Amino acid sequence: MKTVESTRLFERGRHRVPAGTHSNSRAASPHPRYFARAKGEYVWDVDGNEWLDFVMGNGAVILGHGNEQVAQAVKQVLDEGLGAGLESELSIQAAEQFLKLVKRAEQVRFTNTGTEAAMHAVHLARVVTGRSRIAKIEGSYHGWWDEVFVSTWPDLSKAGESQVPTALPGGAGLNEVSVKQTVVIPFNDLEAARDILSVHQDSVAALLIEPVMIDVGFIAPEPGYLQGLRELTSNLGILLVFDEILTGFRLSTGGAQEAFGITPDLSIWSKGLANGFPVAALAGRRELMERTAPGSDNAPFVGTFNGYRPGLAACLATLKQIEDKRIIRNLNKRSQALVEAFNSNAKELSVAAVLHGGGGHFQPYFTDVPVKDYRSAATTNGKAYELWRQELDTQRMLVASRPLLHSAFSSAHSDSALEGFLDASRNILIKLAKENHVES
Ligand SMILES: Cc1ncc(COP(=O)(O)O)c(C=O)c1O
Repeated sequence: MKTVESTRLFERGRHRVPAGTHSNSRAASPHPRYFARAKGEYVWDVDGNEWLDFVMGNGAVILGHGNEQVAQAVKQVLDEGLGAGLESELSIQAAEQFLKLVKRAEQVRFTNTGTEAAMHAVHLARVVTGRSRIAKIEGSYHGWWDEVFVSTWPDLSKAGESQVPTALPGGAGLNEVSVKQTVVIPFNDLEAARDILSVHQDSVAALLIEPVMIDVGFIAPEPGYLQGLRELTSNLGILLVFDEILTGFRLSTGGAQEAFGITPDLSIWSKGLANGFPVAALAGRRELMERTAPGSDNAPFVGTFNGYRPGLAACLATLKQIEDKRIIRNLNKRSQALVEAFNSNAKELSVAAVLHGGGGHFQPYFTDVPVKDYRSAATTNGKAYELWRQELDTQRMLVASRPLLHSAFSSAHSDSALEGFLDASRNILIKLAKENHVES
């Protein structure tokens, strides 16, 4: 594979840009991949190598790279003029289209990134409940802000008891007080949620949860779990906030809240909203959302780039296409087929590996432990994952760089792309089966 240009760019960039990238998640050894262009299911790097993309903007690019309708809508806005810092009809149209799909929300406000949407949800929950603390699930990621970048991919040697996880900072430089204030609960354990939240009920404003834990692969809620949390939080006066940033517009047209039939008090969205453009949203019940309107007793909701027109044009064009239910139905159907084929290969070859997935998201776990929360997901064998990733890399397929992340395909991916993925995965399962055979 040619890497001369990537190496040159890294050498040039790393003196001015830490790690040569603008997000640590893209830092890689010996150098990050520097992309030149993308279309449909493919990206091409600066050396001209063609890659089948199974990262898809960390799940954001749901309709494929360079989707024509989205591109046209954005070009039109650029021609009309940005009107930065002003409202326009587009911001109402995008809100109407969003609420047409997300029927369990009554109002919506747009911002730019998922982290900002999470920050808004936290402020609003405090205003509404008069309480200050946030509860979250161990292992889930909701952005890099102090209150929520807690126990995100935590080091389990420091994380305490599984049923009463210790709140650990997700990185250096966070406010220690904020981190300690955050209440952490394990996923898929209603009893632990009940025990922990009951103790802190007078101080917890909101439970922030990814209804399916996609940031660490794909961990579905067990039957009754989300319903149980809905009842529990209502009884305790805690707001239930769904982070739909990865589930959004991939599991169903109305998000995970529609797929599982649960109405959260608030929800936050981004990624799938605008097919790769930076748009995020806070949505929810009218009487709660109204508390972000101007007013000294209300939560702040401001931002120069909130409702940024190119982003909203992309959002409207994306959501209009997603309204056609066949897109998500197909993503789910094809994910299911991928999961079944991978898992039947693993079973036939007696390899401890299982693919989880849905809505075009997927991730293999190399473990024989049933994956139901962060700790069981963390039993995945890192070496086996790296072998798998490298095999796909050799076949010019991009997948998530680490085992506790997630890969994704889009509606633009062809059947042959998915077959290629399965073939490459099978090669690795065969290698792993041989290694197991030698070891035993
Ligand atoms: C589930 C989830 N929530 C929140 C975020 C934060 O979003 P952003 O990167 O736009 O700040 C992410 C991003 O990876 C995410 O996957």
